[in-house]
Amino acid sequence: MRICMNTGMLSALLGCALVGGMAAAQAPVPDSPAIEAEARSLLNKLTLEQKVQLLGGVESIYTHAMPTIGLPGFKMSDASVGVDAWGPTTAYAGGVALAATWDRVFARKLGESLGKDARARGVNFLLGPGLNIARSPTGGRNFEYLSEDPYLNGALDVPYIEGVQSEGVAATVKHYALNNEEFDRHNASADVDERTMREIYLPAFEAAVTKAHVDAVMNSYNLVNGVHATQNEFLNLKVLKGDWGFKGILMSDWDAVYDGVAAANNGLDLEMPSPLFMNQKTLLPAVKDGRVKALTIDDKVLRLLRVELRYGFADRPQFDPADSTYSVADRVVALQGALESITLLKNEGHLLPLDPAKIKTIAIIGPDAWPAVPGGGGSSQATAFDPVSLLTGIANFLGPDVHVLYSRGLPDMTNVCRNTSWENGVQVETFPSRDFTGKPETGIRQDVSDWRQEQWGPMDKNPRSIRYTAAFKADKAGKYLLLAAASGEDTFRILVDGKQVIAQIHAEGQVPRSMPLDLVAGQTVNIVADYLPYSPGARFGLGLAYEPDLVSADARKFASLADVVVVAAGFNPVIEGEGHDRTFTLPWGQDALIGAMAGANPSTIVTLTGGGGMNVEPWLDKVPVLLHLYYPGQEGGRAVAQILFGKHDPEGKLPVTFDRSWEDSASAPYYYGVSGADTTLHAIADNGEPVDYTIEHIKYGDKLMVGYRYWTTTGKHPLFPFGFGLSYTTFRFANLQAPATASSGATVPISFDVTNIGKVSGAEVAQLYVSDPSAKATRPERELKGFEKIRLAPGETKHVTLNLDARAFSYWDSTDHKWTIEPGKFVIHVGDSSENTPLHADLTLN
Ligand code: BGC
Repeated sequence: MRICMNTGMLSALLGCALVGGMAAAQAPVPDSPAIEAEARSLLNKLTLEQKVQLLGGVESIYTHAMPTIGLPGFKMSDASVGVDAWGPTTAYAGGVALAATWDRVFARKLGESLGKDARARGVNFLLGPGLNIARSPTGGRNFEYLSEDPYLNGALDVPYIEGVQSEGVAATVKHYALNNEEFDRHNASADVDERTMREIYLPAFEAAVTKAHVDAVMNSYNLVNGVHATQNEFLNLKVLKGDWGFKGILMSDWDAVYDGVAAANNGLDLEMPSPLFMNQKTLLPAVKDGRVKALTIDDKVLRLLRVELRYGFADRPQFDPADSTYSVADRVVALQGALESITLLKNEGHLLPLDPAKIKTIAIIGPDAWPAVPGGGGSSQATAFDPVSLLTGIANFLGPDVHVLYSRGLPDMTNVCRNTSWENGVQVETFPSRDFTGKPETGIRQDVSDWRQEQWGPMDKNPRSIRYTAAFKADKAGKYLLLAAASGEDTFRILVDGKQVIAQIHAEGQVPRSMPLDLVAGQTVNIVADYLPYSPGARFGLGLAYEPDLVSADARKFASLADVVVVAAGFNPVIEGEGHDRTFTLPWGQDALIGAMAGANPSTIVTLTGGGGMNVEPWLDKVPVLLHLYYPGQEGGRAVAQILFGKHDPEGKLPVTFDRSWEDSASAPYYYGVSGADTTLHAIADNGEPVDYTIEHIKYGDKLMVGYRYWTTTGKHPLFPFGFGLSYTTFRFANLQAPATASSGATVPISFDVTNIGKVSGAEVAQLYVSDPSAKATRPERELKGFEKIRLAPGETKHVTLNLDARAFSYWDSTDHKWTIEPGKFVIHVGDSSENTPLHADLTLN
């Protein structure tokens, strides 16, 4: 209440309002001389010690309060799919699913809903959206981010942020920058040239700052060109605060600071969740001896105060009782997100839409069928109030007269470990060292089934390494699956008959891992698993099973009895989430499950859950229908039912290229580190002790050729291209109009018609790509520079105009360090994917 009580004039200027004792949504007001004067007057009331205190978080998720100047502590919450830090919430189709909607209007609506959810929980800062580029399909947090394309990300993040902030909640874009893999994220350096950064990895952040005026940015864990993001002068001072003029707060990711003085001097304003480094012990002497300027500290505090004043955070309760904690309106938004994002990739023989009247028995099979899988894992994971699984969504849609047969279809990892019949048990040797030396304690057990899902644990102070040795005899010939899983923090390697077949290095964490073994009847294989637990205890599982036997007998039976089978395959929060990358192959056993279901019933529909592309080659030609759900939020099951039975026309479009194989992706040759280029970093371990880490250098040798840029430039074709998605209707593009010439730098209008020539209403995403064939600079063959989502009734036509600004034709000139247009010929392509662009026009820029 400080400002409203103490400075009546300022409160009028800022629009502080308490309506009948109830807070009203309050969008931030623009900076003004009044705000500046008030911020400086508050700053002048603080001692240096108090100012430094304001640079670190408290209680895991608040900023530091300063009651002497009436400054409250600000409450924060994640973010990407729901306001998740303070109990159950609405879980939306966020991140990559939002990108698959290609709908700016929906992005705004989602932002507003998240803003309201935040206000209903008194949250001042929403720790989202995540804006990193999906460089590789295996990136562990792709599901939280948007797409592989900087233009699409920017086009959606602006309305999303505006929506959040219009509710009086500061959005926080993250993770700035280059967090394109989760592998060893504290120690991995994205080694990338400036042009690639400016054209691919930074534009979404630039749009957030320069267009949406986002009030907070979060630095990532990783290093960029050998320097941690939180102390990276180029990223923070040159680009963010310099070129883009960012006026808000630059906070660290949680425990992403490695050097207090370097972070203070290189743009970081707030260390979260606590001041491990930017604290009085480090900064007071540094200010005293001139290593950090007092004005640098002032600048950070002023940023915090300005944000407070812009929002009036001290003058009104952030909790807004006008917003519901559980909201039916939110459920509608969550459903809309799922309906708009689910993408139909294959529909052979027009099996879909299904006629509900013709379905008497439906089999719903698979690990992702029940319970619901609204989102991926890690800090973004929201506990939804009442998530609708595919099983319940479809069954409820069909009603009481339809017979529903459900089976998970596969055992879980622990079952496989427990049921593996090792010859003579498993020998366990626990060594008093980290390198399997010294006298071990030995024992025999029947199975290795200690795998637990937690990713994180305290560091074990006692050196230990554990070796499991076992033999397995195949009783019949065929394909077996060897499974191994540990916590993402652990290190292990598995040898089969002396040859290493699976390995996980510390912090790599793809769980569980599997390896097919072709065995003949009676063959015995010797398995050795060397395991280095990170924390006390063991979180390790090892199993071996005959693959066809993994598919349960009831699933096979149900598939043969049903009119139609839905197999819910893909990932889940345990195996796709923060802190580790995921595999490109489907989780173990699922290829066999889908193959078995398709073998039992030709009407087999596969749904995929996951943050992007995955390997579908083993069975794609055996199934008529493939639907990508991404992570569909809590209403996913309802949305799938509506799409399967034609109540809603599928309208999602791939926001990422769907590669045929992991090796096909342009970034694959650069994963992960470049050996021999390691450097050493001095840092603090989780237990507070200093440690040296080896930095992995991840070379961005694919440069601009990310996703469809690579495919269209090489002239090769992925499995499903960026922008692709089927519908139950057909759209025609016609009448492209573009000026033959225009001046460089002028806005160029491009127009065309889109007609629904099919029989049902639907939505199309018209996509505009620009090519620069006369450029001397290397440029991708085409780049997305405009799009529009259009809803059309059968027979209806809409005339669409897209305006291309100077940036649509520019590239980053690395010599002059600026955006540049090379005059000459450009080609405009319009269509419904990066590969299908029936309309073309040449345009010359003078
Ligand atoms: C994540 C951030 C998140 C923060 C707070 C970190 O582990 O990387 O995205 O906002 O935790 O939950």
